[in-house]
Amino acid sequence: MPPVHSSPRADDTRPDHALPVDVATTVSGLITRHRDRPGPLLPLLHAIQDTLGYIPDQAVPMVAQALNLSRAEVHGVITYYHFFRRRPAGRHVVQVCRAESCRACGAEELLAQAEELLGCKSHETRADGAVTLEPVYCLGLCASSPAVQIDERLFARMTAGRLRALATTLGVAR
Ligand code: FES
Repeated sequence: MPPVHSSPRADDTRPDHALPVDVATTVSGLITRHRDRPGPLLPLLHAIQDTLGYIPDQAVPMVAQALNLSRAEVHGVITYYHFFRRRPAGRHVVQVCRAESCRACGAEELLAQAEELLGCKSHETRADGAVTLEPVYCLGLCASSPAVQIDERLFARMTAGRLRALATTLGVAR
């Protein structure tokens, strides 16, 4: 009888490298804590990101198996929500709101100015690891648009000048 070879599954996002043991232990602990709650996927992904700062690709099969989902389903949720990061962030994270109210108040121009000021593209971390620039979708300051969050601090009515001053203070302006 010829050997049976299973063809690769379309949803196979098998990681190239194993997680370090301590990170895998952390992810396992979070899975244990969240797996039995209703609708566990999003809270679990948030918990992983809150703990590690990002969601390693290698965590995807662990989460999928624990929640009886396909890897593609978990991967799809992670990539659908802009909030989730698949790579570690820089030492500082600059988030520029691109939702409706901020967009009407110049958020697109502000984001372009932030890219130039910080020397990194939107969704990217600068090569020196100093800063990550992320577009986000509503920071809850719609009445005072445009809004920016730098690390954990929110800033309303942001201007290019204020952003430059803040970036200079943090040592991330180019
Ligand atoms: S739309 Fe930007 S803070 Fe709400």
